[in-house]
Amino acid sequence: MSYVARDDRPADKAARYAEVHDEILAVLDGETNRVARMATVGSMLADAFPQFFWTGFYVVDPARPGELVVGPYQGTLGCLRIPFGRGVCGTVAATGKTRIVEDVAAFPGHIACDSRSRSEVVVPVFDAAGDLIGVLDVDATDVAAFDTVDAEALERLMMQVFAV
Ligand code: SME
Repeated sequence: MSYVARDDRPADKAARYAEVHDEILAVLDGETNRVARMATVGSMLADAFPQFFWTGFYVVDPARPGELVVGPYQGTLGCLRIPFGRGVCGTVAATGKTRIVEDVAAFPGHIACDSRSRSEVVVPVFDAAGDLIGVLDVDATDVAAFDTVDAEALERLMMQVFAV
């Protein structure tokens, strides 16, 4: 496979997600290591969408039940640990449901790892057995940068990369 030059990439967000989805699956073909899969997803998503300011994973820590620990990411320094139920990531881990936050300042308990983050989308990540293994967190410096197109595309990607 080969990358499409950035100037030739589709302007339409859904089309860009479809394109990078296929590129990620092609790169990961045959690779079963979960850290390698998470690192590749973070790198390729961040490269595909320059407006993504922080792109990466918080994973369920088997050593500390009820806590997320930072996983592979692209971006500025992230918090190391987030308890279930705290902030957007902890809420998604506790509920298993995607959250789109248009303005993080209005989200009770939001964890400000970097004050430049203004909006985010967080998607739960499940394994093939349906058990939660972590969350994908994508942040932007603009308010309301994410909508259901982002949420649905990222949910679909997480299913096909990790629930296999
Ligand atoms: N946005 C998260 C915290 C993690 S960072 O932004 C990297 C939250 O409130 O859950």
